[in-house]
Amino acid sequence: MKIDRLKITNYRNLGNVEIVPNPGLNIIFGPNGSGKTNFCEAIHYVSTGDNIKGSRQSELINWDSDYALVRMGLISDDEVVVYLKEGKGKEVKINSKSGKQSEVKSLVPTHTFVPEDLYISKGPPRRRRSLLNRHLSQLNEDYGHLLSDYNAELKKKNTLLKQDEINEDFLEVLSERLIELGAQITVERINYLGELNQCLPDIYGQFVRTEQELNLSYPDDGLINCSKKEIVEMLSDKLERNRAKELNRETSVVGPHRDKFEFLLDGKNLRTFGSQGELRTAVIATYLAYLELYEEKFNELPILVLDDILSELDRSRGEAFLENLPEEPQVFMTTATRSPSFRKLSGEFTVLKIEKGRLEKQ
Ligand SMILES: Nc1ncnc2c1ncn2[C@@H]1O[C@H](COP(=O)(O)OP(=O)(O)OP(=O)(O)O)[C@@H](O)[C@H]1O
Ligand SMILES: [Mg+2]
Repeated sequence: MKIDRLKITNYRNLGNVEIVPNPGLNIIFGPNGSGKTNFCEAIHYVSTGDNIKGSRQSELINWDSDYALVRMGLISDDEVVVYLKEGKGKEVKINSKSGKQSEVKSLVPTHTFVPEDLYISKGPPRRRRSLLNRHLSQLNEDYGHLLSDYNAELKKKNTLLKQDEINEDFLEVLSERLIELGAQITVERINYLGELNQCLPDIYGQFVRTEQELNLSYPDDGLINCSKKEIVEMLSDKLERNRAKELNRETSVVGPHRDKFEFLLDGKNLRTFGSQGELRTAVIATYLAYLELYEEKFNELPILVLDDILSELDRSRGEAFLENLPEEPQVFMTTATRSPSFRKLSGEFTVLKIEKGRLEKQ
């Protein structure tokens, strides 16, 4: 799907934006604080119902107004309108009729990259776990359900472990259920990493022109070739060994919620020795690899909303990114610097300048 008309009124600092976007690449450039993230958020918000900055709904309305409106015309001739009124709920309209957020999500799917995503390769393992969960849930709806079932059971077990008197039978039931669901999650993760690592080294190589091989690695390599039955056994053994620890710490310490994924460059952990640029390039290469797998599976790509994805990449890596962007989907990409590489871009693209919430074509 592509957007062919976009009107944003009073959404955050975007007072009155009206554009006819390029069906391919749209580059929005402007200084800090001009409204680039707000612009990305407006598109993301219409599509998903979530906002990027985690604000309350009322905070999305411009401070000097009591309503906000985003109107999106699509190449399919459908029209989506999202209307926010101070003190009232959100109204969603599809072709002038009241619509559901889930309907909009399937009509205008988007995939958004926020600057915080660039930190995924660094810091705690939870970031890389959540990246994998996000990718897998988008590629496979069943994985999303599996994950929420697992998390619901995990919550029950953690509550139980905190009680003074623990019902051992109930603990056993919950642990078994977690092992079963956990093994299914592990199998899905192993399969996905296998596919991802098929294309990741090549994509990374296009950025860095290196022989070094990038991989996203599962913590326990012994798991890679295991069947689900073997994983169930491994998790059971591990739980047995950690039973006292769980009771002592009053929390579950065994299972895929503790998986630690790391980026390895020629087998070395990038988190501990990689430069800022290398760490970010690894994330971007992973993102492109994910898009490749997504396209393979669904034969199309969602609209890509890329907020400040080029920040802190040097010129040649920025260019490599632009060269490697998939051609088919519509892309909205913001940047605070007008990179000289725009001139070298092949194919059609539109540059829009944003200043103080006003957007104009260059
Ligand atoms: N509800 C609102 N009404 C009016 N202005 C708002 C509202 N919410 C946020 N803003 C303002 O919008 C401005 C632009 O924010 P935005 O995050 O889009 O900037 P940006 O162009 O992405 O900047 P950077 O390059 O630093 O990331 C901010 O200065 C912020 O104060
Ligand atoms: Mg921003």
